Amino acid sequence: MFHFLSQKRLQDRGFSSGQKRRKPNETAMSAMLRTGWQICGLLFLLFAILVSCWIIVSSSETSIFAGNPIQAVVVVTVIAATLMVHWHVSLPQTFRQNSTIALMLSIILIQLLLVKLSEYVAATFAPEGGFRFLVEPYIFAPIVVSLLVGRRHGTFAVVYASLFGGMTVASEESFHFVIFSMICGFVAIYLTNRVRRRSRLVMAGAYSGLACVLLAFTLGQIEWPGFTVGSEAWVMVGKQALSAILVSTLTAVVVSGLLPLIEATFRITTDVSWMEFADLNHPLLKRMTIEAPGTYHHSLVVATLAETAAEAIGASAIKCRVCSYFHDIGKMKKPAYFVENIGDGMNPHDELTPNMSALIVMAHVKDGVDMALKHRLNSEIVDVIREHHGTSLIRFFYHRALKRRDEVQQQFEEGNAHEEDIPVVKKESFRYAGPKPRTRESAIISLADSVESASRSLQKPTPKKINELIDEMFRERLNDGQLDDAALTLADLATIKNSFATTLRSMMHTRIEYPKIEEGDEKGKSRKGTKTKKAKTTRLERSQETKKTVSGEGKKPPATDGPASSEGEKDTGRNPVASASKPS
Ligand SMILES: [Fe+2]
Ligand SMILES: [Fe+2]
Repeated sequence: MFHFLSQKRLQDRGFSSGQKRRKPNETAMSAMLRTGWQICGLLFLLFAILVSCWIIVSSSETSIFAGNPIQAVVVVTVIAATLMVHWHVSLPQTFRQNSTIALMLSIILIQLLLVKLSEYVAATFAPEGGFRFLVEPYIFAPIVVSLLVGRRHGTFAVVYASLFGGMTVASEESFHFVIFSMICGFVAIYLTNRVRRRSRLVMAGAYSGLACVLLAFTLGQIEWPGFTVGSEAWVMVGKQALSAILVSTLTAVVVSGLLPLIEATFRITTDVSWMEFADLNHPLLKRMTIEAPGTYHHSLVVATLAETAAEAIGASAIKCRVCSYFHDIGKMKKPAYFVENIGDGMNPHDELTPNMSALIVMAHVKDGVDMALKHRLNSEIVDVIREHHGTSLIRFFYHRALKRRDEVQQQFEEGNAHEEDIPVVKKESFRYAGPKPRTRESAIISLADSVESASRSLQKPTPKKINELIDEMFRERLNDGQLDDAALTLADLATIKNSFATTLRSMMHTRIEYPKIEEGDEKGKSRKGTKTKKAKTTRLERSQETKKTVSGEGKKPPATDGPASSEGEKDTGRNPVASASKPS
């Protein structure tokens, strides 16, 4: 209410446009629903109750727990508790994500329903001919969980859906059912690795059906007719094999059709959908090519760096690519204030105070979130936009503010300024609002963004300079605590560094100056002459550097969008002029 009044007053005085910024809204209640342990416990309890009821209701007279409901309830509760502990120990990073838990448990329940349904279909339409184990949709739960949450979670779905399914069938069939369910399920999980197209999912279904046929031959569900018998036996074998392959393929087709619905329900995005989002014809990206071409090019380079690095550490490469495309869309509001769009023209920041410049640069994150919400982009893209700078410091403007304060202080000491003219410089005012990257993909994009921004100012790049630059960027991010919330190990960071170096080297190949090998170097002769040449070059570089420092250009602060370092840093070969005058 009061906010509305003050907003109205500002509007009347011409200080506010009256527009509201869109924000992703998360209340305490939604946070508890998302990660609260109470909800987690309730979900497992509900699951145990529903599975127990289903086993009691649907079990045939010859099933393991027929006529003994209490035993069924106790066993199901113990297995559900085992699943809970197993998950907590093996995959702690997703254990508190209640939507993931709800998804996994629901899919296992649906699998149990499908087991009974297919049993009924087989008994009704093909009571003879050993079709019983060939028409089960074993791969439903494994591929859904594998695609939506990950293959490691898929293995959980296979094991527990098989165990519970084995309790609902006749006791003499339980062993065979569990074997079929587990083997077909694991084959399906193996084949759904990096499925990005629906056609590949269907192929995975067909191959799982083939595995089912081979298993049926091995376990005697399909009898080998031999080479001398009549054609009828072969026709039966053909029907059995075809039905197994058909059911598996159909299961994959149904899953592929249901994916968008399941994704929307549980707010999860699969690689198949990411692949569809990776369309450069999106209206926002097309607008960016015209309004902020430099940012568009920067986003494409960040996408390449991030995608390759994500691939190297086993993170979602396609998610990195798509989120990188959109990470800087907020710059379209004021493209001329970012280095990649400035070119050789006038720098608008020269006319502004450091605080105002920092505010404009920081606003691109909020503007980006606003635009992403307006265009209904995926929530994970919105998260990456919010997190890609974390709470890092805009060093360039911070140092410019300190310098200005020192100048006014000097003037005050000389009696040429008032004490109240000395500006107060708060470091917090030059930090992005955050939050810090919270996923591996977000952290990779954040690192790729800073490395790409800094690499643009590399003068005469060499492999050594590129490595030093990347090392420096990573050290800076780590020391500033920007990677604290992302689940990246030191080994992951080392792999990402190598990947960035390789990608940057290949991108800058035409610009890279490789050291020339003198004839004398190879033969081990003329060392003195080479040394003299090197000494001359070093003296020349040093004198040029001094000239730059004297004229105010030298060794001072770098780009602002990426947290390039400035004070007290060693020279990494970046062009100080380019980085000092053009905030990105
Ligand atoms: Fe940015
Ligand atoms: Fe960026």
